Amino acid sequence: MPKLALGLFALVLVDVMQLCIPWVIKWAVDDLEQGVATTKSLFNYGFYIMLLALGMGVLRFVWRFLIFGFARLVEMNLRNRLFSHLLTLDKPFFNRTTTGDIMAHATNDLLAVQMASGMGLVALIDAIMITIAATSLMIYINPTLAAIAILPMPFMILLARFLSRKLHKHYKKVQEKFSKLMEFTRSTISSIRLIKAYNQETSQTEHLNTLGKEYVKHNLKLSIIQGILFPSAIFISNISLLLVLFFGGRLTLNGIISSGDFVAFINYLLMLTWPMIAIGWVTNLFQRGATSLGRIRNLLNERPVIKNISLSNKLLKLSGKIFFKNLTFTYPGQSRPALSDINLKIGQGVLGIVGRTGAGKTTLCNLITRMFPVPDDTLFFDEHDVNTLPLSLARGMIAYVPQDVIIFSDTIANNIAMGRPGASIDEIQKAANIAAIHNEIMKMPNAYQTRVGEHGVKLSGGQKQRITIARAMLLEKPVIIIDDGMSAVDMETEQAIIKSIASYIKNRTCIIVSHRLAQLVDVKEIIVMDNGRIVAQGDHEKLLKQNSFYATIHKQQTNSQL
Ligand SMILES: Nc1ncnc2c1ncn2[C@@H]1O[C@H](COP(=O)(O)OP(=O)(O)OP(=O)(O)O)[C@@H](O)[C@H]1O
Ligand SMILES: [Mg+2]
Repeated sequence: MPKLALGLFALVLVDVMQLCIPWVIKWAVDDLEQGVATTKSLFNYGFYIMLLALGMGVLRFVWRFLIFGFARLVEMNLRNRLFSHLLTLDKPFFNRTTTGDIMAHATNDLLAVQMASGMGLVALIDAIMITIAATSLMIYINPTLAAIAILPMPFMILLARFLSRKLHKHYKKVQEKFSKLMEFTRSTISSIRLIKAYNQETSQTEHLNTLGKEYVKHNLKLSIIQGILFPSAIFISNISLLLVLFFGGRLTLNGIISSGDFVAFINYLLMLTWPMIAIGWVTNLFQRGATSLGRIRNLLNERPVIKNISLSNKLLKLSGKIFFKNLTFTYPGQSRPALSDINLKIGQGVLGIVGRTGAGKTTLCNLITRMFPVPDDTLFFDEHDVNTLPLSLARGMIAYVPQDVIIFSDTIANNIAMGRPGASIDEIQKAANIAAIHNEIMKMPNAYQTRVGEHGVKLSGGQKQRITIARAMLLEKPVIIIDDGMSAVDMETEQAIIKSIASYIKNRTCIIVSHRLAQLVDVKEIIVMDNGRIVAQGDHEKLLKQNSFYATIHKQQTNSQL
């Protein structure tokens, strides 16, 4: 803050110095007119002007440095707040907001706020100072002439305001188009392999071209308005100049004002053109900044749907028992429930979940991991309604292997240790062993230090899956959920993983979602889901006898293996 004040002070000093220059010129011209000027005095006047210019140069540097530095700080603080806030938001928010939107907030909107708090602030102060001072000096020289000269100025402000309102409208459109462009580029790059495999390069390029054209179209409209603004402002200021030349010239001829006054007056008038444009421009800059700040504020006002509760009893530890009571769940914005009447007790040991695609298996896992809000009195961890538990406590008891594998562009070791950054290499290797991936990692060029590329492009599908399993194993949590986490590994590896997990999970709760029934033959408790409901429950033998869907799938899968 003291720096900002110092910067503003320097800015004001520059303005004062700028206003002194015409006055020095006035002295010189008056001396010339009265015939008292000497080479030496003229040289002195020139020297003063040079000194003033030098001082202005130095001070301009000072205010730029201090005030723009301030604007960068504002931007940085806002960016940090935005980022840490985004991390608190939950799945319902990310389901409806695209990455492109968020990126637009993080780039364009922040830039607009930065411009308003830097350039905008400077231009406004500058414009106000110069306007007041130059007008006062003009009035001091000759009030009538000043009134005549200022006559066309209100038109300039009105014009600038009218056009800046239009600017604002198109600027909003430009922002929207920019969001779309960003989102499209991001999604294309992140699914590049798919796009190549489907030969969609040309159509993607064409679509980008269409989006790009719209972006350019609105930008052009913006430029047109800006293009009208400046020339018309200069036109109006020229009308003022014309009036001053005419009336001021007459006053000078009649000896009412001196030639020096006349010259100084014209200089002050010319000085007014920029503030008049600036006022229009600054209004626009502030409006942009305000819109952008509004957009950022909306984002900052987003609250996670899932209420987080802080619990005084920090010692509470969950053992991993999960209980669903008459739970019906509908995704936000959907009309049909994804889960209906779920009654289920999950305790230590393995629970298998099978069911057609779209049956609701992942949804069930999403609710246990507290990604979406559940109604009160429907889901319990140990004996506690989850809505009364802090999220960190609830999530802290679960190690989750999601259906969509997520691998970071980092080393294998760091990918496995993601949930426990301090884990030792021994612990990491142990987890990799359980997930039956250790031997393969050792064969890689840099073993655990091998970098896997973006989204793990250098790994096979099965390797990625097992790395995410190892990541969950390392956490040693009371609950492990593996959502279809072995679909990309062969039967043999799968059996090996299941065996090693079996010993690991002795005193834990383990939920395995699988499309392959063979994986679950030894599991004591299996639920079959269909259409969001649990339609059967029991061990393999019981289900084989009692559930026709289970029996059919089993038959198909065993036949296809023969
Ligand atoms: N984020 C979401 N928003 C709205 N609807 C969703 C969302 N995720 C899933 N659904 C819908 O909920 C239903 C259950 O989906 P879910 O992902 O739980 O199925 P699943 O049993 O895991 O299927 P799969 O075996 O293919 O993984 C589907 O009809 C799906 O369209
Ligand atoms: Mg699923």
